[in-house]
Amino acid sequence: AILIIDFGSQVTQLIARRVREVGVYCEIHPFQSAAEAFERLKPKGVIFSGGPDSVTRPGSPRAPQAVFDSGVPILAICYGQQTLATQLGGKVEGGHAAEFGRADVEIKETSPLFEGFWEAGKRYPVWMSHGDRVTQLPEGFKVIGTSENAPYAIAVNEERRYYTTMFHPEVVHTPDGGKLLRNFVQKIAGIEPDWTMSAYRAEMVEKIRKQVGAGKVICGLSGGVDSSVAAVLIHEAVGNQLTCVYVDHGLMRAGESEQVVGLFRDHYNIPLVHVDASELFLGALAGVGDPEIKRKTIGRLFIEVFEAEAKKIGGAEFLAQGTLYPDVIESVSFSGGPSVTIKSHHNVGGLPERMNMKLVEPLRELFKDEVRALGRELGLTEAFVGRHPFPGPGLAIRIPGEITREKLDTLRAADAIYLDEIRKAGLYDKIWQAFAVLLPVRTVGVMGDGRTYDSVCGLRAVTSVDGMTADFFPFDMNFLGRAATRIINEVKGINRVVYDVTSKPPGTIEWE
Ligand code: XMP
Repeated sequence: AILIIDFGSQVTQLIARRVREVGVYCEIHPFQSAAEAFERLKPKGVIFSGGPDSVTRPGSPRAPQAVFDSGVPILAICYGQQTLATQLGGKVEGGHAAEFGRADVEIKETSPLFEGFWEAGKRYPVWMSHGDRVTQLPEGFKVIGTSENAPYAIAVNEERRYYTTMFHPEVVHTPDGGKLLRNFVQKIAGIEPDWTMSAYRAEMVEKIRKQVGAGKVICGLSGGVDSSVAAVLIHEAVGNQLTCVYVDHGLMRAGESEQVVGLFRDHYNIPLVHVDASELFLGALAGVGDPEIKRKTIGRLFIEVFEAEAKKIGGAEFLAQGTLYPDVIESVSFSGGPSVTIKSHHNVGGLPERMNMKLVEPLRELFKDEVRALGRELGLTEAFVGRHPFPGPGLAIRIPGEITREKLDTLRAADAIYLDEIRKAGLYDKIWQAFAVLLPVRTVGVMGDGRTYDSVCGLRAVTSVDGMTADFFPFDMNFLGRAATRIINEVKGINRVVYDVTSKPPGTIEWE
């Protein structure tokens, strides 16, 4: 394995992505707990991430001494380079011209780090982002790459297998960065790729069996990829000791509940309790127009219904959740202070303590795209694993203001047409999320010879990497025209369609 020591860079997760792409297992740990992680993981190589601090500041983060004493190879990036240099007796100073963004690195000598793609005497584009710089190298190091503002762009000690770069190989703006990380992992640390989804599947099945024993497991299905993959994997491990619970809040899209029930009950033959709680949810939401009250009502009811079903099933001591690696990485944050709640997210985080259950989380080590790969490995269809994310509160947050059954039906019909057109145009996989919104606004139109006075439908489509930031999708106007015409012609109650061209920030993806 590879241990990545996090010094607080915004892009530490990308290092892990690149290492996993090479087929090698890795974990990220903050510098504070890196010593224990190093001891436990016994990695064959260590990567130091970048970070926002300055090594010249007293008390700034350092790498554990044990890493240096062990003799494992190190790749140290940006802040990592500076702390490594400082810890081994070199010097770092601030106050130089900061270098941000694209730079060219000129290679002075060959090295196993870039063997096969960078040649001595040539220049290659890399991505820099730093203020301080190393001014004196520790003993045994030499410079093998320079850039205009970074005389120590690449400094190495080949004998100890310490490689340091002032640039970030993990970002896409360093086009050869992935290959550089591959060389570090495979050639320098000498790790054979063995991180495949079929190996992970087999390993997890064993782990789940061991953890669960003869116990009973309950898994809440949302219809999304994560909980579905978790459920199928757990079922493979412990068979009918697993019961899935699907709380249908009546806020799902057209045909969605049937799909979930069909897939699990009929296709995988997994015991599934389908709770139709739409009366309860829609009753509680009647007359509620405030987005936060809607979200909180749905969250609270979900927990109540789930808890009641779990009691009926009886005797389960384990609760399965589709928690992913990005949720568990204890990243280093230097920002401090509580952040503002923009939206109360619907999740079941409070359930395990409340119900006194132990968690089974077989996806805790995976990134989203790895969950998709595991889903494929488990036989889920491409259409299923490639689904856009769907929020826990469902269509409730896509109908600003009060929700009624009639509005839900109207929205479902419009949304289905929009997604159908997107699929037909071959655009579904290019979009992070696409959906229709039903606005609480009526406008005048003319259809045939008559006057209409109906609702406005908003269309939203965004591109994003993680849902944290997003851009609106640049449809061609013909596409939008086609979708709008079909929605207005086919959906009763809608006579106008608008397209949302807001990015996030300042907008959010959902409308509430
Ligand atoms: P926003 O609207 O905050 O959404 O830009 C970011 C991403 O999160 C999804 N979302 C949710 N997912 N429970 C969820 O599981 C929620 O309560 C929730 N609210 C928003 C949203 O669809 C988008 O992908």
